Amino acid sequence: MSLILGLESSCDETAVALVTSGRRILAQKVAGQEAAHRPYGGVVPEIAARAHVEILPDLIEETLAEAGVRLGAVDAVAATAGPGLIGGVMVGLVAAKGLALSAGKPLVAVNHLEGHALSPMLTEPSLAFPYLLLLVSGGHCQLLLVEGLGRYRRLATTIDDAVGEAFDKVAKLLGLGFPGGPAVERAASAGDPRAVPLPRPLVGSGEPHFSFAGLKSAVLRARESGRWRAEDLAASFQQAVVDCLVDRTRLALARAGESTALVVAGGVAANGPIRAALAALAGEHGLPFLAPPPWLCTDNAAMIAWAGALRFEAGLVDGLDAPARARWPLDPAAETVRGAGAKA
Ligand code: KG4
Ligand code: ZN
Repeated sequence: MSLILGLESSCDETAVALVTSGRRILAQKVAGQEAAHRPYGGVVPEIAARAHVEILPDLIEETLAEAGVRLGAVDAVAATAGPGLIGGVMVGLVAAKGLALSAGKPLVAVNHLEGHALSPMLTEPSLAFPYLLLLVSGGHCQLLLVEGLGRYRRLATTIDDAVGEAFDKVAKLLGLGFPGGPAVERAASAGDPRAVPLPRPLVGSGEPHFSFAGLKSAVLRARESGRWRAEDLAASFQQAVVDCLVDRTRLALARAGESTALVVAGGVAANGPIRAALAALAGEHGLPFLAPPPWLCTDNAAMIAWAGALRFEAGLVDGLDAPARARWPLDPAAETVRGAGAKA
């Protein structure tokens, strides 16, 4: 059994965790930076990087202290090495390199998306490869067939905005505040999901890709018309997202071949109506549906330490020259899809 210290700093969450390969979480801490970014209605990369510098050293000490573990007792230090906001990624990775060097322990450079992809296994020991994963976060919207450690087949990605990004932009234009996802979900619960006619981009198309930019623009136009209440706009937007996710995931299930479960992960997986719709879809296919608990869906270091533990035990450690990467696709064979701002 190995013990891994994990660091996460790829977006606006600074996080540290101690996790064993036996799925024990000895300690896990997440320090959000919402207050610093709220005035701007979105994450400001330079502010995030600076905040990681300020928060991380104490958070590492507090995590070790809470678990009663000395740095010398860990088997490896894992950190997110990308993809993400490059300044923040560098802060966490450099910190991990320093700790690894000073303690004489190996470094494990973890792909943040691999952290999300493997996170359901941390709390669900019965989950077996291969499973179909819908990864929905502020930076990504992908369908991946998780075939094994380090083996991911990307079946779909967004051709423009990530789904969490769409939630955040809609929250901003409806004046609901930041972070947007939970605010839209709250407002939507008091609205009518059928009130506002909105498009379902790419629904019915033969490739299971996603697109949310047009939906967001439609919400903006509906808002400007002055005809609708914010609650009805939020509910109708959320319903359109649910319909897009379900339609695209249904197509991917048909394409994926064998899969043991339908799994959703990433920050947007905290959304109740999205979880419910995916659970129903899995039921239609006779598949178990799994969603990690909300604290494991949003960015955290337990998933990085856990992915680090699996990689460490498989002998996949990295040198101190491991690079920080703004882009790092999980499936290097996946084609770039056409679209204005296609994400890796
Ligand atoms: O995974 P995550 O914490 O960070 C990234 O890697 O991006 O995801 C953050 C995203 C944000 O866009 C946030 O608005 C969204 O997840 N989110 C939600 C909910 N909670 C968080 N979106 C919809 N409904 C929610 N309840
Ligand atoms: Zn994430």
